[in-house]
Amino acid sequence: MISPTSLRGSKITGTGRYCPPRVLTNEDLEKMVDTSDEWILTRTGIRERRIADRGQACSDLALEASMAALHSAGVGASELDAIIVGTVTGDMVFPATACLIQERLGAKKAAGFDVSAACCGFVYGVSNGHALIASGQMDKVLIVGVDILSKIVDWKDRATCVLFGDGAGAVVLEACSAGEGILGTYMKSDGSLADLLQVPSGGSRDPASPETCARGGHYLKMKGDGVFKYAVRAMEDAVKQVLDRANLTIDDVDLIIPHQANIRILDAVHKRLGVSADRVVVNIDRYGNTSSGTIPIALDEVVRNGRLKKGDVVLMVTFGGGLTWGSLLFRYN
Ligand code: UT7
Repeated sequence: MISPTSLRGSKITGTGRYCPPRVLTNEDLEKMVDTSDEWILTRTGIRERRIADRGQACSDLALEASMAALHSAGVGASELDAIIVGTVTGDMVFPATACLIQERLGAKKAAGFDVSAACCGFVYGVSNGHALIASGQMDKVLIVGVDILSKIVDWKDRATCVLFGDGAGAVVLEACSAGEGILGTYMKSDGSLADLLQVPSGGSRDPASPETCARGGHYLKMKGDGVFKYAVRAMEDAVKQVLDRANLTIDDVDLIIPHQANIRILDAVHKRLGVSADRVVVNIDRYGNTSSGTIPIALDEVVRNGRLKKGDVVLMVTFGGGLTWGSLLFRYN
């Protein structure tokens, strides 16, 4: 029996992931741009990443991850009240990728919408799903974090093309009593830093044209050092804020699942927080930065390999283009 609205919460009841099988190693990249395995590994922690096939779109990856999450939750697609997809590389400008997945899953009664918050898309999506459930509007929500950045990076730009990979992760969120499941959420952004990470063309400011294509306006542009500087500060802020909201301390957290952008950022954050490295999940070596996909992919891995135990308190923390940042605390059960 679900509690009355004022006492409702939400919990993650199933997880899934899908990463394309094609592996692109640092050695492969050495043949494509002026880089080296040594540079990539020491500056980022990445050894290899997965790359989608030419014919694979965002919804293809998201569909596989969603089916795995629904299966592990024991929830049928027809039971879903909403599908929320965090992505900045949807199949099309519109309709939302969530609507395309809805059709393919057969989730007839679900509302579908995408969240555009770059690497924060998944955490923002779960925060929204939690709010919809806690307010009593919905009972079961599917949230997907998915991106195919390989389709928007400039494969001639060594400063960006070595960093990213493709992948999707998904969770099913269901109503429960307050105090179980999700313990706190935090979302923040600072649009004055929008120029640090963006795709400048293809929107209404600079619509796609032969000229925008010729100058590469549709490629991802990043001022890496600027993002790096704010990332560490923003993630530390997000951790502190969500712990305060939940009235917990970092010592109450069993596992931290951070956005996987750079191993040096992760090292800096866990050192500032005073947390030992074994409490931080790292898989950037195998997937690179999959944007909105990093956290749900890592979550599904620790669920399936048994690293995450029932009752554990988990902290997700992320940052990305916008700039955006955010965090989420939950008890796994
Ligand atoms: O998901 C959220 C978004 N993204 C991020 O969080 C990324 C945050 N930023 C970073 O992770 C780092 O800033 C990068 C990994 C992007 C770059 O690392 P860095 O230590 O800040 O390197 P840098 O940009 O200062 O470049 C150092 C040198 C430069 O050469 P010079 O000017 O010193 O001669 C670059 O041209 O490394 C050069 N370089 C490369 N060399 C070999 C840049 N990219 C490469 C490369 N291979 N792929």
